[in-house]
Amino acid sequence: MRKIVCLLGSPRPGGNSAVMAQALCEAAGKAGASVQTFALNQLTYRGCQGCLACKKDAEACVLQDGLTPVLEAVRACDVLVLATPVYFGEVTSQLKGFIDRTFGYLQAGYAHLPRGERSRLSPGKTLVFVIAQGHPKEELFTDIFPRYAYLLNWQGFTESRLLRACGVYHLGDAAARLEVLEEARVLGRELATAQERAPE
Ligand SMILES: Cc1cc2nc3c(=O)[nH]c(=O)nc-3n(C[C@H](O)[C@H](O)[C@H](O)COP(=O)(O)O)c2cc1C
Repeated sequence: MRKIVCLLGSPRPGGNSAVMAQALCEAAGKAGASVQTFALNQLTYRGCQGCLACKKDAEACVLQDGLTPVLEAVRACDVLVLATPVYFGEVTSQLKGFIDRTFGYLQAGYAHLPRGERSRLSPGKTLVFVIAQGHPKEELFTDIFPRYAYLLNWQGFTESRLLRACGVYHLGDAAARLEVLEEARVLGRELATAQERAPE
């Protein structure tokens, strides 16, 4: 059974990014995947402290807070869904706080290791970015997805997918975008039934 972990990065319960992620996760669950969802805004945690303990004596982030069980769940997942609105051209601070803490997944000396040996995570995980963007212009903020896909590739997320809606601003906007929700369901079913990939 494929394990999906979904992190909701918006502070708005039932917001556009959450509705899109939920459509994906529900379809994946119906197709046989296990799905675990965390609403980051409900957790209390700090960003990476840059202490480098995870590169000296420890094999993981040494902070013990609301993100600790999330980081453990992500370590064990096959698919990580990161859902976020665009906030000032970026992911939300809630999601960025999580992303920075994934520094603990990187091996000591990671920068000098060959691809495939940099991460403490098992290879072949899939990253899915779910982005809700208020501005309708599709050419805006296109840098977010490839940038994080590149960075998280180092951590073992060797495949990455994007589900994006532009011109969704108010609560309920994404729920009315039936083509986006259908795209989410198709992707969810595909992720639930994908074969394990051989490491690159
Ligand atoms: C603090 C803040 C910053 C935002 N910045 C942007 C932005 O830079 N570009 C944009 O297109 N929309 C921006 N928006 C609009 C959100 O991306 C949009 O409302 C989105 O649908 C919210 O997703 P959610 O319902 O999942 O929270 C911003 C909204 C807020 C509250």
